[in-house]
Amino acid sequence: MLPQVEEILAIFKKHGDLNYGESMSVLSHSIQSGLIARNLGLTDSLLVAAYLHDIGHICPLFEGVKNSMMDGYGLNEHDLLGAHFLERKGFDETVTIPIRNHVASKRYLCLKDESYFSKLSKASVTTLDFQGGVMDAYESLIFENSPFFEESLSLRKIDDEAKEENFIVTDFHLNDMAEILNQYLIKLS
Ligand SMILES: [Fe+2]
Ligand SMILES: [Fe+2]
Repeated sequence: MLPQVEEILAIFKKHGDLNYGESMSVLSHSIQSGLIARNLGLTDSLLVAAYLHDIGHICPLFEGVKNSMMDGYGLNEHDLLGAHFLERKGFDETVTIPIRNHVASKRYLCLKDESYFSKLSKASVTTLDFQGGVMDAYESLIFENSPFFEESLSLRKIDDEAKEENFIVTDFHLNDMAEILNQYLIKLS
C-alpha cells in the first residue's frame, strides 16, 4: 500500500473518533459518505472526495498542529486544511477542489434552496456562523462559475446524508477505503 494511504489510515485510526458536534464520529461520517457515493455510482474522484472530505478535522491533530476549534464542532477551516493536506499527498484537483468547496457549498445551498437549511443537522447550523454564514448573491455568482461547481454540490449532498447515528465501522470498511484510495493514486501516477 502506498505510504500516503498508510498515513491516512493511521490518521483515521488515531483521531477518527473525534466528536465534532455531530451524533457520530468523523470516521463513521467519512465511511458513510464513501458508501453513499459508491451506491450513487459517482465518479472515482467523488468517491475518494466523499471518504476524505472531513480529514481536515483530524490531519492537523495527527501532525501536532493546533488550530482554532469551533466550540467542540471540529476545526475551523477544515475544508482548506483537508484540501491542502491531500494536495501534498498527491491527490488531484478533481478530489481536492470539491473538498475545499464543501463548506462553501453549504453556504451556497442555504442561499439557493429554501428547504436545504431546514434539513441541515444541528451541528451544521451552528458551524454555519463560524464559516461565514449564508452566501450572498455576489459570492454565489463567483462560486457558480468556479471549477467543479456541480461536483462540489454533489459532494455536499452526500455529506449531509451521511449522518446515521448508529452506523458501526468495521475493519472491512477501513480496508475497503484504503484499497479505493490506493487504486486511485496508482491510476494518477
Ligand atoms: Fe466538513
Ligand atoms: Fe462532512
